[in-house]
Amino acid sequence: MTANPPVTFAARGEPKEEIGGVEFDASQADLYRTNLLLRTANRIVYRLGEFTAVSFPELRKKAARLPWETILQPGQPVAVRVTCHKSKLYHSDAVAERVAGAIGDFFGKPAPMKKFNENSRPLPQLILVRFNHDTCTISADTSGELLHRRGYRLETAKAPLRETLAAGLIMASGWDGRSPLLDPFCGSGTLAIEAALYARRIAPGKNRRFAFMDWPGFDKKKWEHQLARANSLEIRSPVTILASDRDAGAIQIARSNAERAGVLDLIQFDCLAVSAIQPPNQAGWVVTNPPYGVRVSPDKDLRDLYARFGDVLRRQCPDWNTGVLCSNDLLIGQMHIPLLEKIHLTNGGLPVSFYRGKVQSL
Ligand SMILES: C[S@@+](CC[C@H](N)C(=O)[O-])C[C@H]1O[C@@H](n2cnc3c(N)ncnc32)[C@H](O)[C@@H]1O
Repeated sequence: MTANPPVTFAARGEPKEEIGGVEFDASQADLYRTNLLLRTANRIVYRLGEFTAVSFPELRKKAARLPWETILQPGQPVAVRVTCHKSKLYHSDAVAERVAGAIGDFFGKPAPMKKFNENSRPLPQLILVRFNHDTCTISADTSGELLHRRGYRLETAKAPLRETLAAGLIMASGWDGRSPLLDPFCGSGTLAIEAALYARRIAPGKNRRFAFMDWPGFDKKKWEHQLARANSLEIRSPVTILASDRDAGAIQIARSNAERAGVLDLIQFDCLAVSAIQPPNQAGWVVTNPPYGVRVSPDKDLRDLYARFGDVLRRQCPDWNTGVLCSNDLLIGQMHIPLLEKIHLTNGGLPVSFYRGKVQSL
């Protein structure tokens, strides 16, 4: 898992793992379902076609044969994002221009080129072009805004995790969805909220729009059917989720986010320093993202914080499972919690690890 896993759509045969993604065959209903239900994917892209091209005229001619009518209206603005690797055509801006030109040729009307800025409205249709050893793969983004934008997190405190990464950490922690879960450094509440959505089986995409909804072939009935099906799978889980932070402002933000996500009733938020947490007796999971700084040698304050955190866990959470996201082995070492696994990830481009462990009793 990475912080940025794209999921590609429309390969043939078995799902195929790629670096940072999965390629699979899918129906239109699957396209709706994957956008609606996947908790850790960044975006779902639909493969329009693949061909070789070694000159710009060849690229334009072959790209103009793709089924553009399935995703675009004539004259609709597009954003074309290009990557080129070991190919004769390596000038990405020129490739983007030719692909937009090919779309114009297809419709007999130019397709205006726009920048893809997630915060601007309306979003242009994003087209992804990848050249690898002269093979050109052209795909259409089906998601629109990245899938971590669930719609509930309108405010953030310091250093928030992406919702997709938070959901991935909850799953990677091995949490069973029933035992208590605690985040004593909760910030904007992302881990606790994603845990609550997961425990209740709430579809992460149920409150947002997707790019495919603007496609000519969008089947509203089919989408509503998928949505109703996802809603019917929700459960009223009696689980205890505790989230605390010493920053009162962060707790206020976390509460508002949880309310928007529809899970405020499931999470107990408290403004507390980590040394003051009072978890239940039943052993559960601590999944958290304490401050870690980005320096190679962490300062003394952070080392003390991790040492204190380890002491608190031994005293208050014997036999609990732990999952701590951190960029530094030295800091994790200060906790003196036996490690079970270290999972390498990136968070906002920074290499980090998710350290899974188990608290021993005193
Ligand atoms: C990296 S942020 C957590 C971000 C969070 N995962 C999110 O998605 O928003 C670390 C948090 O730890 C809190 N913190 C720092 N020292 C603390 C302490 N001693 N006790 C409790 N919280 C603390 C900070 O206020 C900050 O909100």
